[in-house]
Amino acid sequence: MNILITGASRGIGGAAYALLKRHGHNVLGHSTRGSDLLIAGDLADPGAPRAIWDTALDELDGRIDVLVNNAGIYESVADNATDDEWHSAWHRTLTINLQAAADLSRLAVSHFLDRGEGGRIVNVISRAAFRGDSPQHWHYAASKGALLAVIKTIARGYAADGILCFGVAPGFTVSEMTEEYLQGRGGAKIIADIPLGRVASTDEVAETIRWLAVDAPASATGSVIDVNGASYVR
Ligand SMILES: NC(=O)c1ccc[n+]([C@@H]2O[C@H](COP(=O)([O-])OP(=O)(O)OC[C@H]3O[C@@H](n4cnc5c(N)ncnc54)[C@H](OP(=O)(O)O)[C@@H]3O)[C@@H](O)[C@H]2O)c1
Repeated sequence: MNILITGASRGIGGAAYALLKRHGHNVLGHSTRGSDLLIAGDLADPGAPRAIWDTALDELDGRIDVLVNNAGIYESVADNATDDEWHSAWHRTLTINLQAAADLSRLAVSHFLDRGEGGRIVNVISRAAFRGDSPQHWHYAASKGALLAVIKTIARGYAADGILCFGVAPGFTVSEMTEEYLQGRGGAKIIADIPLGRVASTDEVAETIRWLAVDAPASATGSVIDVNGASYVR
């Protein structure tokens, strides 16, 4: 299968990229600056999703079967920040985590409709979409909750065309995004809140992405798999 995955340089996306390759798929990864293997595009730039999509289509001989929207940021802003700081944090997080994923999803849906052979989209959201997040992360939780609504909309709107859309909702997962926090004073408190007794590994989230991207039955479209050690059950 021809698969495009964003944010494949490290963390969850890096693990999913490597796993999908090991399974023999034709995987094209992306990151902000790119590399010999990865295509580049800063998703804070409104023009980036279309440029990434067009480059990916070229590199994958005009056919993409699966889009994985994994890239994301987890930046904090204080609830008593200045209006300008607050608005710019919201704008940046919503642009990267929500708008870029929606833009890429729209391009994928259009491509799948044109080809008439269906396709899959897997969006990496977060436990925060259901549970909310810390007082420094209203915008992060809002971005993931909104992306959940996009997943459901695509699933319902295009299932009849063979276009399936899924979500993965990790809880705390060891990656650069969380490493510092987990090693600091907050770490022990986080673990105490997870019945499984540990945070998720990037490999566990990667396997969930792989399954949804390749194997999940069509009737599961619109669903989201939690990977959070039962720290939030819904
Ligand atoms: N880790 C967790 O505990 C956790 C929990 C719930 C959900 N998630 C979600 O899982 C996904 C991956 O998280 P992670 O922990 O693996 O993150 P990570 O280790 O920080 O990696 C983030 C990835 O996204 C890319 N990225 C960041 N900003 C970008 C931008 N402006 N333009 C293009 N690419 C950008 C990075 O590329 P560069 O290397 O080029 O910067 C990198 O490949 C995110 O959507 C995150 O919200 C993570």
